[in-house]
Amino acid sequence: MKKRILTGITTTGTPHIGNYLGAIKPALKLAAENDESYFFLADYHAIIKNTNKAEVNDSVKSVAISWLASGLDIDKSFFYRQSDIPEILELSWILSCVTAKGLMNRSHAYKAAVSTNESKDEDKGITMGLFSYPILMSADILMFNATHVPVGADQLQHIEMTRDIAGRFNHIYKKIFNLPEAIIGDDIKTIPGLDGRKMSKSYKNIIPLLSDEKTLKKSIMKIVTNSLEPGEKKDSNGCNVFSLYSAFATSDEISSLQEKYEDGIGWGDAKNLLYNKINNEVQHIRDKYNELNDKPHIINDLLNEGANKVRPQAKEFIGEIRDLIGISKI
Ligand code: TRP
Repeated sequence: MKKRILTGITTTGTPHIGNYLGAIKPALKLAAENDESYFFLADYHAIIKNTNKAEVNDSVKSVAISWLASGLDIDKSFFYRQSDIPEILELSWILSCVTAKGLMNRSHAYKAAVSTNESKDEDKGITMGLFSYPILMSADILMFNATHVPVGADQLQHIEMTRDIAGRFNHIYKKIFNLPEAIIGDDIKTIPGLDGRKMSKSYKNIIPLLSDEKTLKKSIMKIVTNSLEPGEKKDSNGCNVFSLYSAFATSDEISSLQEKYEDGIGWGDAKNLLYNKINNEVQHIRDKYNELNDKPHIINDLLNEGANKVRPQAKEFIGEIRDLIGISKI
């Protein structure tokens, strides 16, 4: 069967090196290897956690530009904004009506929010958006009947829920939804931030993707290492500098750095090698980003074009779904 790849990018903040290695790069590789790929900016997911209008809007722009600057080919992939396809929200409601509340109760994302609640009322601060967000995600996927969904390991449960929900609908009405499979990138958890924990904006340990060279270098120099001196043999195992280097380098380059570790390379020199490696790869992304950033109308045009390509598919399919459930002309 032909693969149809689809993934959503929640638009929060400006992408960093962890997002680039863990999400953007693997997705673009999949797009190059497959005939059909759908990438969309999940802006209706962004408002679950962020009610700041300017931040939501800016994030859509910076995330869209980052993907385009990283080489997303809009002639080969569908690239659109979730909010430009209102049929997704319509489908989300229809799916809500066949989804057991108990299924949502089991969602890790929701349970994590409940368990960290310090208030006596475990539902304090929990919105219906957060509670039912796996249904919106299911609608994103099922609207285009994707076969494969690349996601981080933390999203696996949501793909299983999507299969459950699709199966339920198929059982009640008619078998029209494909049950999608997750493609799990394990890259995301192995990309350490400055302090060795997973690179994440919330840990404040990121290496920026789009900053100027000076800022990039400064951030790389802050990577935490042990205090071995130059000349002393270093262990590459569990070394943040080494792991990050490995994420960008070829296997020959990795072996060569391994030898240098054994020969006692100093941390300053190792970090310089890492800086050059990262800078070489992101240089053109940064330049392209800056170029596009000054021309937001181009981004708007591209996203409109993307929506114009996929919306007819969504309209046609939602018509079929409406007929199945009895919401059609009498
Ligand atoms: N929830 C996903 C995340 O936080 C983003 C997302 C929204 C998504 N809709 C999707 C991913 C549909 C895959 C398919 O990473």
